[in-house]
Amino acid sequence: MKIGIIGSGYVGLVTGTCFAHLGNEVICIDNDVKKIDMLEKGQIPIYEPGLKEMIRKNVKEKRLTFSSSIAQAVKHAEVLFICVNTPPKESGEADLSFVEHVCQDIARYMTSYRLIVEKSTVPVQTGEWIQKTIKENRKAGVAFDVASNPEFLREGSAIHDFLNPDRVVLGVSSPKAEKTLRKLYEPLKAPILITDIKSAELIKHASNSFLATKISFINAVSRICDIVGADIEQVAQGMGLDPRIGASFLKAGIGFGGFCFPKDLSAFLRMSEKAGVRFGLLNEVLTINEEQKHYFVQRIENHLWNLKGKTIGVLGLAFKPDTDDMRFAPSIPIIESLQGEGVKIRAYDPQAAIKAKAFLKAVTYSRTPYEAARNADALVVLTEWGEFTNLDFKRIKKLMRHPVIFDGRNMFDGGELKKLGFRYYGVGKGEI
Ligand code: UGA
Repeated sequence: MKIGIIGSGYVGLVTGTCFAHLGNEVICIDNDVKKIDMLEKGQIPIYEPGLKEMIRKNVKEKRLTFSSSIAQAVKHAEVLFICVNTPPKESGEADLSFVEHVCQDIARYMTSYRLIVEKSTVPVQTGEWIQKTIKENRKAGVAFDVASNPEFLREGSAIHDFLNPDRVVLGVSSPKAEKTLRKLYEPLKAPILITDIKSAELIKHASNSFLATKISFINAVSRICDIVGADIEQVAQGMGLDPRIGASFLKAGIGFGGFCFPKDLSAFLRMSEKAGVRFGLLNEVLTINEEQKHYFVQRIENHLWNLKGKTIGVLGLAFKPDTDDMRFAPSIPIIESLQGEGVKIRAYDPQAAIKAKAFLKAVTYSRTPYEAARNADALVVLTEWGEFTNLDFKRIKKLMRHPVIFDGRNMFDGGELKKLGFRYYGVGKGEI
């Protein structure tokens, strides 16, 4: 099939590349000319495992091209996926102006039938606005369909998630749109759920909000564990064995981050307020998430007493492993709050250091985890990168001024580290 992807961010780039990998002819569009130049030269603006290789292969085999011209995409493609940003406004509401502009452009360039699919995360009823915008701007008589096809991929495992989805949700309003999208997704052999457009839109916001609720729930329980001396991992395991609860997304830590959960929760909350529905639960999920970062800093302060003049080594800055994404990373408020108390930060991240520089000032970036640990009064783990599991803690102990570890991701065995002479604090491991 001939596919056009409008917006080549995380979702757009992965979607376009994977559709090309499945044998379609894909053109990815972005209004950032520099980004398109980079992509044309085989350089990838984001770190996502496997993406660079897959892009290069599909470009070479002529199934994937890049352009900054929407007109070219509309001419080429029978199906156009809208994958542009829907950033949060000051109020938390989703800013849909990029979606609107893209729809106006698509409508102006359409000369025959096109299927326009919203893939960006949007509030319910956006489909109706898209329909109206295209109707008002199209040439008379040019037919089109609008559909909603929310994306559930996670950064860091985006390609795997795209190619092996738990479900494909297709919100459609015509048999023709359903047939086209079914055909496109058929090679994935995944369960397909056909819904109306509004339900598909809601599935995305409700899913992200529910997952975030699980995380805040377990983080709140982790604080109880610290106070009463219980172990959150055992509690989560015991809860997760009940299939009605499920074991995933019950990892306590320093709170969720990234460009999706915080933004989508706020947008869903504002949307429900607009609809006149009280959904205070989501407010509480966000509040617990904010508190979790302060709670973590407070525990560091409780141990180190005066923070002024102390040096803290930080392992991991990205909002999660296997990505260089720093947007809404919990590391940002945690480091800023330590710096606010006069702490010097030496940080190491395998991928995110370059992007981190735009978010964090006055941080000394280290080239290795050992450099970050040198002369540190404490070592703080903020992202559970796989490579940290092979750290030589004997060496780290020798390098540190005081062998104290605050493991914000519960990635290490506290018992083992204590045997090596470290003072170890996990999250919800019964140590205040
Ligand atoms: C999330 C959803 O998982 C995807 O299904 C969705 O498609 C995506 O948002 C989106 O809307 O685009 P993502 O933000 O890439 O994906 O990352 P997750 O793996 O979900 O992690 C989100 C945050 O929650 C991270 O900060 C992570 O560290 C944290 N987390 C996750 C926990 O603290 N505990 C957990 O048990 C799981």
